[in-house]
Amino acid sequence: MSDKPILFEELDPSPRLLMGPGPVDVYPRVLRAMSTPLQGQFDPQFTQYMDQVQVLYRQVFETDNQQTFLVNGTARAGIEACLASIIHPGDTVLAPIFGRFGHLLKEIAMRSGAKAVSIETEWGKVFTADELETAIKKYKPAVVAISQGDTSVTVKQPLKELGELCKQYDCILYVDATASLGGNALPIDKWGIGIVSAGLQKCLSGPPGSSPISFNDEIVARILERKHTEAGIRPAGVKDADGPIIQSNYFDLAMLMDYWGPDRLNHHTESASMLYASRECARILLEEGLVACQARHQKTAKAMRAGLVAMGLKLFGDQDNLMDNVTGIYIPAECGNGAAVRSDLLNDFGIEIGTSFGPLDGKIWRIGTMGYVCRQANVLRCLSSLEMVLKRHGFTTKQCAGVDAAYSVYENG
Ligand SMILES: Cc1ncc(COP(=O)(O)O)c(C=O)c1O
Repeated sequence: MSDKPILFEELDPSPRLLMGPGPVDVYPRVLRAMSTPLQGQFDPQFTQYMDQVQVLYRQVFETDNQQTFLVNGTARAGIEACLASIIHPGDTVLAPIFGRFGHLLKEIAMRSGAKAVSIETEWGKVFTADELETAIKKYKPAVVAISQGDTSVTVKQPLKELGELCKQYDCILYVDATASLGGNALPIDKWGIGIVSAGLQKCLSGPPGSSPISFNDEIVARILERKHTEAGIRPAGVKDADGPIIQSNYFDLAMLMDYWGPDRLNHHTESASMLYASRECARILLEEGLVACQARHQKTAKAMRAGLVAMGLKLFGDQDNLMDNVTGIYIPAECGNGAAVRSDLLNDFGIEIGTSFGPLDGKIWRIGTMGYVCRQANVLRCLSSLEMVLKRHGFTTKQCAGVDAAYSVYENG
């Protein structure tokens, strides 16, 4: 070791326009909120902010659920908290898989002690209500765990019918809304969704690192059957429940309810800057209005897709069930696996787009138009830059066709 400390230079990331499948550019207001001075977690003003976050996210999830709060960690922290807390060891959990994140849900269910079963459909398609009903009848799951929008395939599973099915067959519906919340409708009470989790880094346009969740009273009762309070904080006279202890301490929703509830029973140290970010993300969304924000995502996706098609590119996935915030396109043969195009877009134009995973790795590009990024200027910038880069890679489009088509969506609807 040398005597001199190794410091590196001060952070100075190159400016980027993040138009991949997420994370995306963060709203400046959210960045400002994150630099707000911290307070202690027992400060009455801070606990008031925690209460406000609950009120805000009830509106975001369109729910009356008392239990609506944040799990600290990225979206998969929220998934783990939900699944680890609702799955009793040996429960059957059905994970319908239509992309990468269905596999993730199945795996987390399995790690949480479930007998995890799945049905699969080709990536890019979603399930019909009949297919889901057949699987529910066959497996009789305690829980159905599904993503609303699976970013890896850019399609969105209709959930209303699934909510009705879960009610009919008496199973819990858990939804991973990480990639869809804010840009796509998700009225959880109306659709019979028992428990849901999300993330900030997609349509909410915050940084990754906080997972808003919500669950209804039926789920609360189920979780309380397994409530074991950490010995060092357990109030006198409080007895543990008879059910098996929830495997994870950090993701124990029984204890998190006490932390966020009026008892304020200490658990972790709330991640204050992420709480500020989550609060501001919700304020921005609600200020715009849920419906207006969804409409903005729909219009922007429509303009982006019109532009891509006009450039001669082929859209990926079931066109009747596309997510409103991310678009998949087949990589043209001239561009190989598409990596060089992505790298030129990034290095020459400062725009990030993504490919996908598994069978779609190097086969499709994914272009996100979410949250702060979901704007006309970015659609035009992305289409015109892509036109230039594609040309240099041997795929020529009619000049300005993409930008013209996008303009026409904005001008004529
Ligand atoms: C649908 C879906 N679920 C879960 C995740 C995992 O989120 P995180 O990386 O924030 O843990 C993602 C991330 O892209 C996602 O798109």
